[in-house]
Amino acid sequence: ATERTLSIIKPDAVAKNAIGDIIARIEKAGLKVVAAKMVHLSEEKAGGFYAEHKERPFFKDLVGFMTSGPVVVQVLEGEGAIAKNRDLMGATNPKEAAPGTIRADFAETIDANAVHGSDSPESAEREINYFFGNDEICPR
Ligand code: CMP
Repeated sequence: ATERTLSIIKPDAVAKNAIGDIIARIEKAGLKVVAAKMVHLSEEKAGGFYAEHKERPFFKDLVGFMTSGPVVVQVLEGEGAIAKNRDLMGATNPKEAAPGTIRADFAETIDANAVHGSDSPESAEREINYFFGNDEICPR
């Protein structure tokens, strides 16, 4: 089915000038960008986004990293968009990411891992609504 998923190009990948390379991979895989913006997240906005990880030992570092520079937030649309985007990204830990995936090619550490992608239809819906109003999404 046609799905939507939330993608974040994280501060490490933005700092590396890899925005275009990453979006090219997304588009070549057949996904469409239907919303996009660049933002420098506040601690509150980043912490709210990752609220499910609040009790995890890496939460503080994660929020610190995600607020360390601007990110590019996008809504991607397409057939099986959630799984397709996760295949493109590779494993969360870049050391375990398959060759040719975004994290294998652009990421350094589990925190600075280049991209985020929603992991289920429920989280996709929550994450998209967390960043975008309906009038900011352009179906096509
Ligand atoms: P992301 O997909 O954005 O979701 C949560 C993030 O926490 C994850 O990518 C990693 O960048 C970061 N993180 C840091 N340590 C861990 C860990 N041990 N397990 C999972 N995620 C971690």
